[in-house]
Order: sequence, then C-alpha cells, then structure tokens
Amino acid sequence: MNTVAVDLGARSYQVRIGSGLIARAGAEIAPLLRRKRVAIVTDATVAALHLPALQTALEAAGIASAALALPAGEATKGWPNLARCTEWLLEQKVERRDVVLALGGGVIGDLVGFSAAILRRGVRFVQLPTTLLAQVDSSVGGKTGINTAQGKNLVGAFHQPSLVLADIGVLESLPVRDLLSGYGEVVKYGLLGDAAFFDWLETNGPALKAGDTAARLRAVTRSVEMKAGIVSRDETEEGERALLNLGHTFCHALEKATGYSDRLLHGEGVAIGCALAFELSSRLGLCSQEEPSRVRAHLAAMGMKVDIADIPGDLPRADALTALMGQDKKVVDGQLRFILARGIGQAFVADAVPPDAVRAVLTDALAGR
Ligand SMILES: NC(=O)c1ccc[n+]([C@@H]2O[C@H](COP(=O)([O-])OP(=O)(O)OC[C@H]3O[C@@H](n4cnc5c(N)ncnc54)[C@H](O)[C@@H]3O)[C@@H](O)[C@H]2O)c1
Repeated sequence: MNTVAVDLGARSYQVRIGSGLIARAGAEIAPLLRRKRVAIVTDATVAALHLPALQTALEAAGIASAALALPAGEATKGWPNLARCTEWLLEQKVERRDVVLALGGGVIGDLVGFSAAILRRGVRFVQLPTTLLAQVDSSVGGKTGINTAQGKNLVGAFHQPSLVLADIGVLESLPVRDLLSGYGEVVKYGLLGDAAFFDWLETNGPALKAGDTAARLRAVTRSVEMKAGIVSRDETEEGERALLNLGHTFCHALEKATGYSDRLLHGEGVAIGCALAFELSSRLGLCSQEEPSRVRAHLAAMGMKVDIADIPGDLPRADALTALMGQDKKVVDGQLRFILARGIGQAFVADAVPPDAVRAVLTDALAGR
C-alpha cells in the first residue's frame, strides 16, 4: 500500500492506495469516528458490486452503516439528486461530527462531497473512489459540485475529504471503456508536468490496461502525488492548479455538445482535449509538430478515442463549439484561457489565446470526420 499526503495545514489528509483497502475500510476509518456509525452514498452499479464488502468491513470494526444508492451516470450529478442525497443524510440524523462515505466514481464523489459541504454547514467525508478517474483525480483536491443546465460543475464548493481510500482491486470490475476514460486523466499528468512519467506510460500503459496490479499501483500513485503536490501549493486555483485543466476547455465544449451523454465520457473528452491542446500549441509555434503526433500515437496505441472524429453522431460547427467554450469556468474577463504546452511535461497557462487559432484547430478536427 502507498500513502500520499495532501498537505493543507489543518485540513491535511492522506490518500491510501492499494489492493484490498475496502476490506480494511473499518480499521482505516475508525480513527476518524466520534461514534461508530456512518452513512454511505453510492450508485446502483457500485452498490451491487462493492457495497456489501464495504458494509461487512465496517461491521467487522463495529461500525454501523446505512446506505443510499443513487442511479449511476453523469445525469445524477444535478440538483434533484443533491436534494435527495442531502435530505436522506438529514433523515439518517447525520450530525456535525459524523462522517459520510462516498463510494463510487467521480459523479458520486463530486455530488456527495458537495452534499457534505452544505449539510449542517459542513460535515466530514471520506472518498472511496471506485473508478480510475476518481482514484487519480476527482477524489483528491476537494473540488465538489454538480452540473446545471448552464454547464458542468458550475455550482459547487471546495470541501476537502478527511481521507481517501483508493482500492485498486475494485478497478477489476470496471468496464474497459471507463478504465480508459480514467486513463485519459493519467496521461494528462505526464503531459502537463512529468515527461518521464509519460515515457513510462508509453511502455507500461498496455500492461496497466490488461490488469497488471503493479502498473496500476504505480500509475495511480504517481498521478495522486502530482495532484496532491499541485493542490497543496494552490488549493483554490489561483495559479498552478489551473494546469490540471489541460485538455479541459476543449473537453467541456465537447461534453456540452454531446449533452453529457454516453457519446463521450469525461476522460475521453480530456484525452481528445489534450491532443487538441498539443495541436494548438504546435500551431502557435510553442512546441514541435512531433509532440501532438506522439500524444495521439499513445492514445491510439491504448485503443482510446483520439480525435473529434471518434465521437459518434453529429457535432456543432467550429464556431458553435468555440462559443460553448465561452461558458467555461476558465474564462476570465471574456478571454479564452487555455493550458498549452512547450513540450510533453511542460504545460503552462496561456491567457488570451487567439480565437481564430482555436477555431482553425476545431475546423480541421471536424473536417477529419
Ligand atoms: N472533482 C474533481 O476534481 C473532478 C475531476 C475530474 C472529474 N470530475 C468529475 O468526475 C465525473 C466522472 O467520473 P467517473 O468517470 O468516475 O464517472 P462515474 O462516477 O459516472 O462512473 C462511471 C461508471 O462506472 C461505474 N462504476 C464505478 N465504479 C465501478 C467499478 N469499480 N466497477 C464497475 N463499475 C463501476 C459507475 O456506476 C458509472 O456507471 C464527472 O462528473 C467529472 O466532472 C471531478
């Protein structure tokens, strides 16, 4: 088992990564509890697969639990289920000093974390991420929230978990499409700040995909180390944390254009967005043409979506996609802000990227369809 510390003064916490962590959840969580009772929120798919093991582990440590299973999928991350979750926690008489457990992927982690943030003005919560995406990204760093009709993640709060237990064993039940979606975020870490990690992924990505535990442990740990470091230095995204949004401005526009549907999973959009960000960087003369080619080659070798052309169904034209970016949280004073790169592992925040250059990249990407 590996442990990564997220260093945030009084709100510091640990991320534990390893196989069999759900089975030891009782012992891991017990030190946080003032009374031996927790409320668990999960989704229906994860409940069927992993909730019994969690409840058994808690019981073995003398911890009573009640559980709520919400529907699985991105559509759950909205107002109706936020209300349902929060009111259920109140019905369970969760008090200020209690701990809520979020068992699931990024949807459950974001929604339950936000619910914990607003419940009685803030109760503690533990993340038990069950997707690769949630283990390497969404469970760490305290960003919580929901989607609204106006866009993704526009309503939320910074609320750090008290502990993160990333059991890489549960990834075995994850469909390969979801695994690869999470891998999009893993690749992002190499691309944004660790060229040696990207080299390692080029060699070891296929083993990771095939289920190699050591490769998964290393990839999750390195990703969490990178995220923890950035979050510790810039919790509320005044500067460096924005680098984690590499690929995300394109991704959010594509997700909006596809209605947050099964046509495009979040991590798939991140992977395509990273390839587009490198393409844009190369066209702006910031990096060589070989860099976007290398990014795309690795995504293709992993069997991932690489291009806009890989998204099924119709998409809006380049102008309309660019307009969708205007709604992005990264927009400052109406200026499009992108994360661009001077090479693999060398991302930086670029303010005032020329919209024409963005449109040109999108026009060519759409023409490839
Ligand atoms: N808070 C952050 O910093 C942050 C960062 C990145 C992404 N996100 C958010 O994360 C969300 C996406 O997360 P996700 O990709 O984990 O999606 P998800 O939570 O919808 O999970 C994907 C699917 O996998 C199923 N699943 C989960 N664990 C499983 C397992 N072990 N075995 C089998 N099936 C399992 C789920 O039921 C779901 O159907 C988006 O809403 C995105 O905005 C948040």
